[in-house]
Amino acid sequence: MKLWGGRFTKPTNQLVEEYTASIPFDKKLAHYDIQGSLAHVKMLKKCSIIPAQDAERIEEGLQKVAASIENGEAELQQEHEDIHMNVEKLLIDEIGPVGGKLHTGRSRNDQVALDMRLYLRDTCTDLIQLLTDVQTSLCKQAEGNLDTILPGYTHLQRAQPVLFSQHMLAYVFMFQRDVERLQDSFKRINKLPLGAGALAGTTFPINREYVAEELSFFGICENSLDAVSDRDFVVEFLADASLIAMHLSRMSEELVQWSSAEFDFIELDDAFCTGSSMMPQKKNPDVPELVRGKTGRVYGHLHGMLTMLKGLPLAYNKDMQEDKEGMFDTAETLRGALALFASMVETMHVKKDTMYQAVRADYSNATDLADYLTGKGMTFRQSHETVGSIVLHCIHHDKYLLDMTLEEFHTFSDLIDEKIFEVLKPETIVNARSSAGGTARKSVQEQLTKADAFLHDNQIWIRNHS
Ligand code: ARG
Repeated sequence: MKLWGGRFTKPTNQLVEEYTASIPFDKKLAHYDIQGSLAHVKMLKKCSIIPAQDAERIEEGLQKVAASIENGEAELQQEHEDIHMNVEKLLIDEIGPVGGKLHTGRSRNDQVALDMRLYLRDTCTDLIQLLTDVQTSLCKQAEGNLDTILPGYTHLQRAQPVLFSQHMLAYVFMFQRDVERLQDSFKRINKLPLGAGALAGTTFPINREYVAEELSFFGICENSLDAVSDRDFVVEFLADASLIAMHLSRMSEELVQWSSAEFDFIELDDAFCTGSSMMPQKKNPDVPELVRGKTGRVYGHLHGMLTMLKGLPLAYNKDMQEDKEGMFDTAETLRGALALFASMVETMHVKKDTMYQAVRADYSNATDLADYLTGKGMTFRQSHETVGSIVLHCIHHDKYLLDMTLEEFHTFSDLIDEKIFEVLKPETIVNARSSAGGTARKSVQEQLTKADAFLHDNQIWIRNHS
């Protein structure tokens, strides 16, 4: 007999049962469902909606159900459709008909919204911790490479030299925006929908604020219709996740490029690479490749969720059961990627010498020659053109600016003196960019200090929200 069987005269068609059941995936919510039920029953007792001794039996029963689900003993049945009705059924099997009092003043519609919010709350906290771990690894690489110079690129053409630390820190700041977005979304996730009933509230004298406090919510969802219809918080989470995935993917792309013989800037640790079944020499950067590849499914879940919601009238519609699998998959995908990234970044070998050779063998010091001439009185436009001709001359003679003699420079401009050889060195160029946020060692150290401070704040936030 189904929990809602009273109104029916026929059993459910087998295919319908299979098609409409969510238990195969929403069993992941079991822990949160029971956490919510425990708070609900406590409130029913406190408000004298059910007798205290019944409430206590339900509480004990729920603890037993939780344990039996946890250790795999409990049998979750498709016949009971979803996690909410399976838990209720297990409870009634455990303590008898009194278990039927648990659902007083509540609907699965506010219950499922609650479970989703409880799940996402934990997920946000976990992801913030994992992002902070990745940032910590990036900062370690930045600290260890304050004298490592590599070409900086625009259009994937060598542009100006930068410190490797500057490059690592770019990702640290990027991931910090991700942390802040999750913290901001958390404010809207962390509101209590329970007490909305199916859509209109309830006739029982419930106390929603009490439940909110029991479950550490910031407050309650103010409108019952909105409370059960709202999945904005899932969309927001998926949007935050999509940005994280995009950031991880961009970094993955760089790690893949840098691991190639063409760049040869880094070597990922053997433990983070895989081989080829045919080509014995291969060491493939599968992890960043797969992280890059998995971005598609995260974006897909965001799009799927927005599309699922777009035509829905208020309030709950069964369509909304489709909110779960994409959310779970997104959380698992990011958890996996971030955990791997933290150790992969920390253990990667940075090839300082190859990076330096690359900087030495390019024209990324051309801007500094132009700036130098401008400092000597040329207009910038004039010096730009003069340096353009010098570069062209070098290309034709198969050399770089630092291979020029002073006499050769003088055929282009008399303003150039022997100091130019110092000016054009990669170290001089990098350290000359000491503007706030620039790539000079001093500016990079300032960034590291800022990063240290917000990484510390992230940990405090996690402690206050777990
Ligand atoms: N399994 C359902 C879901 O995940 C729970 C809510 C069902 N509510 C209902 N009125 N059928 O959306």
